[in-house]
This record gives sequence, C-alpha cells and structure tokens, in this order.
Amino acid sequence: MNKEKFIETYAVERKQTDSTKWDALEERFGDGELLPIWVADMEFAVPKTVSQALAERIQHGVFGYSMVTTDYFKAYQGWQQRHAKTNLQEEWLSFSTGVVQSLYDLIDCFTEVGDGVIIQPPVYYPFFNAIQDKHRTLITSDLKLEAGRYVMDLADFEAKIIAHQPKLYILCSPHNPVGRVWSEEELAAVMAICEKHQVLVLADEIHSDIVFQPFCSAVMVENGRFLDRLILVNSSSKTFNLASLLNSHVWIPDETLRTQYQNWAKEYKQTENSLIGQLAAKVAYETGDEWLEGLLATINSNYQYAKETFAEKLPNIQVTPLEGTYLMWVDLRAYVAEDKVKEVVQDTAKLAIDFGEWFSPDAKGFIRINLATTPANIEQAVTQLIAAIQK
Ligand SMILES: Cc1ncc(COP(=O)(O)O)c(C=O)c1O
Repeated sequence: MNKEKFIETYAVERKQTDSTKWDALEERFGDGELLPIWVADMEFAVPKTVSQALAERIQHGVFGYSMVTTDYFKAYQGWQQRHAKTNLQEEWLSFSTGVVQSLYDLIDCFTEVGDGVIIQPPVYYPFFNAIQDKHRTLITSDLKLEAGRYVMDLADFEAKIIAHQPKLYILCSPHNPVGRVWSEEELAAVMAICEKHQVLVLADEIHSDIVFQPFCSAVMVENGRFLDRLILVNSSSKTFNLASLLNSHVWIPDETLRTQYQNWAKEYKQTENSLIGQLAAKVAYETGDEWLEGLLATINSNYQYAKETFAEKLPNIQVTPLEGTYLMWVDLRAYVAEDKVKEVVQDTAKLAIDFGEWFSPDAKGFIRINLATTPANIEQAVTQLIAAIQK
C-alpha cells in the first residue's frame, strides 16, 4: 500500500478519545494546546481486518477466560519468519501484558536486589526506571557518535562489565531513540562480551518491524550461538499501535532459564491472557503486511520531509539516520542552548516532544520527534519548530 492510500484509509483524529498522547497534555506538559509528537503512539487505525474481527467479537458480548490457540502461534510465528527471519519455537514463548511489564518481571526473576544491570544510553527511559524501581544497580555504557551515526562503545562496555560485574544487559534493538538497526556483527560482538563475562542478555525487539534496512534478531546472531543466555521481548503493540490491549511476548529459548522463569511466574504472575489483545494481534499478523507497507512509506516520507526541511532552513540541526523505529533523534544544540530547549520547543513552538534528557543526562539539547503521524502534523511541527528557533 502506498502512503496516500494508507493515510486516506487509516489516519484518524484522536482528541477526546482518552488518549495519553492527546488528552493528557495538560497533566504531562502543563499545556493542553500543544501539538503532541511525543510518546510512541500513532494517529493510524488498525488494519480493517482487525477492527472487523474485534467488532464481531464485541458483538458476541462474552469476555470470559480465554485460551491461546495454535492459530495464534502460527500467525505470530509466520509474521516473525516473514519480517524478522526468526525461527520461533512454540515452547520458547510465554505471554505478558506489555514489554515494560516484562522488563520489570525479568529483572525480578533473573537478578537480585543490588545486582548490576547494564544499558546503553541514550535509551528508552523505562529501562532506567525498571532497574531503579527494582533496586538494582544502574550501569551505563553510552553509545558514541561516529560520523553522525551512533555505535556501541564496546571497549567501554566491556570495561564497565569488568568493573561492575552486572548480571543482566538490556539491549534495545532497533534502538530507541537513536534509530539504529544493529548489524549482525555488532550484535555478535556485544553478545560475545556478555558470554565471556556471563552476563544474561535481555533483547527488547519491540521495534523490529519498523525497519528501513535488514534487521537481525538477537536469536539469529551467528545461527543461534547465544541462545543459552538470551531472553527476547516483543509485541504487536508498537507495529500496530495496540498498546492498551495488553498482549506481549517473552521468548526464552534455553530450557534452564525458561524453567527459572516459569517457577518465578508461578509465584508472581497469575493473570489471564487478553482475549481482545490476542485476537487483534493474531489478525494483524495474518493480514497486516500491506498495512505495514503503508505505515513504513508514511514514516519514511515524514522523515525525509523533516530532514530536508531542517537541512534547508536550519542546516546545523543534526538528525541521525533513520534505520529503524518511527522516532527521529534531533540535535538542536547548534541553535538552542541546552537550558532553553523547553522554552523554545514547548513554550514557543507549542510542541509536546520527548526531551533528550529523558533518555540520558548527557542528551540535553536533543529532542525525539514521533514520525508515526500524518504528514500534516509533521509539517506543522517542523514549521513551528523552525519559526521558534529562528525567533
Ligand atoms: C524500546 C521499547 N520497549 C518497550 C516499549 C513499550 O512497550 P509496552 O507498551 O508493550 O510496555 C516501547 C515503547 O515505545 C519501546 O520503545
């Protein structure tokens, strides 16, 4: 599906639908009139096939305990095979209500209070929260910018592991907010360091469908070399914007780790599956390929527009290449002093965005723009931002 058809068919108005992105602006930013291009949530309805299946189920009117069917697994396995080239096995899989919930659960299950957990900022801020809320020791190895593109600092990563001996590494792949799709070589290198020092790898691959170049899943690195110390989490919630339907996946290929998790879950997780969440995901996995094509075309076009417009009007704004995710990481420091970003972006340009320091204390002066919206919203945001900076 092309961008025009996608927007015509699926773009929706979201104000006054109890949307955090649109209706919590006063509460979150102190200004209900901002244009929201913050939280990773989109202005596009799910594929028609999904809303139809949900409507039929709602019409049925019964929402009792539900089971996971083989059809669900087949749909998910097929989607993963087509889009991420993975070889998901049924026994690896368990369910949760969200990827962030799983981060908390897996930290609980596989580490003890006080243990170190290592992450690579700038990175999705709930990684920090999960580690700190669970009273683990936060260890960071910052990504480094090389010729305008972020890379892992492997020497620093290994040095931090040797110094602090973390038990767990949370990998963000593709990486939010810097938009990297890690190559197999980069993943192999970082996972080999973890193997050498016996650090468990928790790969958050929630953005794996939103990619503009080939994606390599952590389970496929060097033909599954690292499966015995790897846990993977993902969900249809980013791809199809289904976050509030509370259905996500945990993969644990290694039997010993899986048993450890199952024993932990027996004690702490007695929730049922989300009937509606699983139905939406199943139908999306079965029929959503063309929809995803339209979404990717729209995100890419919004990215090109924003990048080219910044290059023309404010050429010293630095934008990292968008290899994956629908999030644009923008360095405003050439024009805006670090302590003036809120004043310029929020008070003057009237935008609700994610500020750089949410992702790293060293990322002041950066902002993250959510591109998964209509071209009209992106044009408005870019125009208002440029005018505010020029002022
Ligand atoms: C890297 C990453 N993990 C997890 C999530 C959220 O997942 P969930 O809504 O399933 O908790 C996001 C949302 O943007 C994300 O970017």
